[in-house]
Formats: sequence, C-alpha cells, structure tokens
Amino acid sequence: MTENLRAIATRVLLDIQENQRSLTAVLPYYQEQVKPEDRALLQELSFGTCRWFQRLDFIQASLLHRPLRKRDNAARILINLGLYQLLFTRIPAHAAIHSTVDAAPDLGMKHLKGLINGLLRQAQRDQEGLQSDTSAPVEVQFSHPDWIVHKLKANWPDHYQEILQANNERPPLTLRINTGLTCRETFLEQLQAQGIDAVATQFSPTGVTLTTPCDVKMLPGFQEGWFTVQDEAAQLCTTLLDLKPGQRVLDACAAPGGKTCAIRLTEPNLAQLVAVEKDPQRAERINENLERLNIHADVIAADAMDTATWWDGQAFDRILLDAPCSATGVIRRHPDIKLLRREQDIAELAKLQLHLLEAVWPTLKANGILVYATCSVFPQENTRIIERFQAKMNDVDVIPLEPEQYPWGINTTVGKQLLPQSNSHDGFFYACLRKH
Ligand SMILES: C[S@@+](CC[C@H](N)C(=O)[O-])C[C@H]1O[C@@H](n2cnc3c(N)ncnc32)[C@H](O)[C@@H]1O
Repeated sequence: MTENLRAIATRVLLDIQENQRSLTAVLPYYQEQVKPEDRALLQELSFGTCRWFQRLDFIQASLLHRPLRKRDNAARILINLGLYQLLFTRIPAHAAIHSTVDAAPDLGMKHLKGLINGLLRQAQRDQEGLQSDTSAPVEVQFSHPDWIVHKLKANWPDHYQEILQANNERPPLTLRINTGLTCRETFLEQLQAQGIDAVATQFSPTGVTLTTPCDVKMLPGFQEGWFTVQDEAAQLCTTLLDLKPGQRVLDACAAPGGKTCAIRLTEPNLAQLVAVEKDPQRAERINENLERLNIHADVIAADAMDTATWWDGQAFDRILLDAPCSATGVIRRHPDIKLLRREQDIAELAKLQLHLLEAVWPTLKANGILVYATCSVFPQENTRIIERFQAKMNDVDVIPLEPEQYPWGINTTVGKQLLPQSNSHDGFFYACLRKH
C-alpha cells in the first residue's frame, strides 16, 4: 500500500531540513513514490509549506500548550502541513485534518494523533482570526527568517516589503522565444488560437509570460524548440553582451545552460562558445538543453577558477559570469531557500564570487566585455563584488547602463539591480565590465 501523501510530504521537508538538500533535488525521488495523479498535490504541499514555514511555526506555537520536543521535528512539520492546508489552500477542512492526522502512524507517531487532531481542529475553529492576524512581527507575517528580513530592510529600506511580498507569490511562467525559428507575435497568436492567455514581456524583446503556468510540453512548438523556459530578468543577459559574429564567448558558470542556449540562439555565428560548469552532472544538463534545441557549445566540466585545466590560452571577446549566489532574487521559485540559507553563507558566497571574477578576468581580451550576473538581491554579492574587484585591478572599466538604453531595474553605483516583481521578472543583478 502506498504511504499517506501527507506523510510523504513530511518526509520531503525532513529531507530538506535534516540533510540540507534543496527541494528541487529531493522532490523527484518522492514523486516516484506517489501515484501520477497525486504528484501535483505533493508539489503544492511541499512548496506551500516551505513558503509559509515561519508563519506556520508561529501559529503552531500559539496553539500548543507546551512546545514540542526537539526530536518531534516530524510532528512539527506534519502540523505545519496541516495548518498550510487549512489556512492557505481550498482543500476542505475535514479532508485536510483527516488526511494529516492519518499520516501520523506512517511517521511512527501514532501517539501524537490526538494532539495533532486537537490542534488542527482548534485552527479550523479560529481560521479567520489566524489568517487575518497582523499583530505578528514582519518576519512572521511575510514568513522569512529574521536575518533575511533585517538584511533586506537595511539594503532596500524603500523596497523591502514589496520584495518580501513578491517572494511569497507564485512565480509566473516566462518563455524565451527562439527567434531563429519563430517570432514573438506569431507565437503569441498561436497561443491565443489554442485559448492560452499570454503577454509579451515588458523589457526582454524575446519574452512571453503565460497568464496561468502550465506544462510547457503541451505548448505549440515545444518539440520543435520554438522556446525555452527562462525568466525575463535572466533573458536580459544577451542584451548586455553585445554579441557579434566571429566572437569567442565564455559562459563561466553555465549549468543548466539556459544562458548558454540563449547566447547561441542570439548569435548563431560565434566562432566559439565555451560553457564551463564545475558539477559534472549539471554539465550534462547543458548538453541535454543544447541537444533539444539542436545547437552547439563546447561544454567542459571543470572548476572555472582553475583555468589551467580548461583554457586553451586564446582570449575571449565576451564572458558571462553568472555566479553561484544566495538566490535571494528567486525565493518565490525556490521557497526552500528560507529553510536552507544561513546568514554566514553570504560572506562565503561573496568570497567565491570575487575569486571567480579574478580567475576568469585574465581569459578576457583587451577591450572585451564581461557581464557579471547573480540572482541575488544583496549588494554584498553584487555591487560590492564589482567595487572590490575594481579597487584591486587597474584594467577594469564599468560600462554605465543608462536607463534610456536599459529601461529596467534600479541603477546602482556599478550595475543594475532588478527586484522581484509580482507577475513579472525575478530579482537579478547585472554589471558590465570592459577590460582596457
Ligand atoms: C547561477 S547557476 C548558473 C545558471 C546558468 N547560467 C543558467 O542560466 O542556466 C551557477 C552555476 O555555477 C556552478 N559553479 C559553482 N562554482 C563553480 C566554479 N568554481 N566553476 C564552474 N562552475 C561553478 C554551479 O554548479 C551552478 O551550476
């Protein structure tokens, strides 16, 4: 007999918390254990409970007479799953409570059935009060770890609430049109003919955002490679690279290859496109994505920092350094970041980002352009990296990104910051550097 779905969802969250693994990494394994018709619900329960975890924890604590013991973490998660269903979904209350209580024996906590049942029934009775309570601190209301809220408030005093709000929304599905095969207007017409609502993106000339996300395999032209899934902010990278035929281009941190593909599709006549990725399994994903689109890049599984192992000594005209980062601009797509990321990670990531920049810079030609990108909203990983790099080097010019030419994002001292927007682009940072 298959295990109760709420028990499996509890295991997903336990795996994330206890093994520090991402939701994207763990979910496919658990999806294999449920019936195909239950997979969407498992995804919804796992994503939703991560998204609202801090708020659910707060509500749970307010309903418990005595705090749970540390070793009852599975019960804490299961109760949060139950509260999520009651307070944030349309699952009928009786079904939410019944199925959640029923999961307890599967998780070895039959003895807690009464407690879970009582607590969820109490939440059901006070559903309205719990949902509308605005007396809780901002980190609870917006369900983020304290340190993220404090850092956002310090970094973006005029914008932090809208960032927190956007982080809790369901992300839009945005596609990048492969303009070598079709054009955006034709594609939009085809979507409309099939009754699928979509709009052209505001800033990216190649983007289309679907009003309601769906399985992209069902969309016209999926097999033919008419589009790839790519957020609008990520699409903007090719508008900054100033790609021309005959150039040699390096994508230094490339997997899963969204931007590698975008670079090749934007300028099919490059002399060479090299995609370097440290993680060999993720490097394979670049090859799969290139194959689906029937395009080519030289994919190398190597540490970009260790140039001696992968660079042939011929300098690049263009480099994209889409650096590993805190991903705090894409929390709405990866709500597990709220459970996994620690404050001290940011300084570690900043060190890595600066080292990567220093390592790949010598592979850039004189007069060449390097685009530095992250999907972080913290200046520590963005403007500060560029400022620190500039202070160390004597051959770096920061190219100004004038609002007239690039009418998006917030201009910072050395680049542009996009903050996550409701129904629009993710949070992203770009800086353009020229070597002289
Ligand atoms: C932000 S993701 C890149 C996303 C990619 N550019 C895209 O658009 O699909 C950063 C990638 O850098 C890789 N990475 C981290 N450290 C690296 C290093 N030292 N050398 C090469 N790749 C690295 C990570 O494994 C991850 O796949």
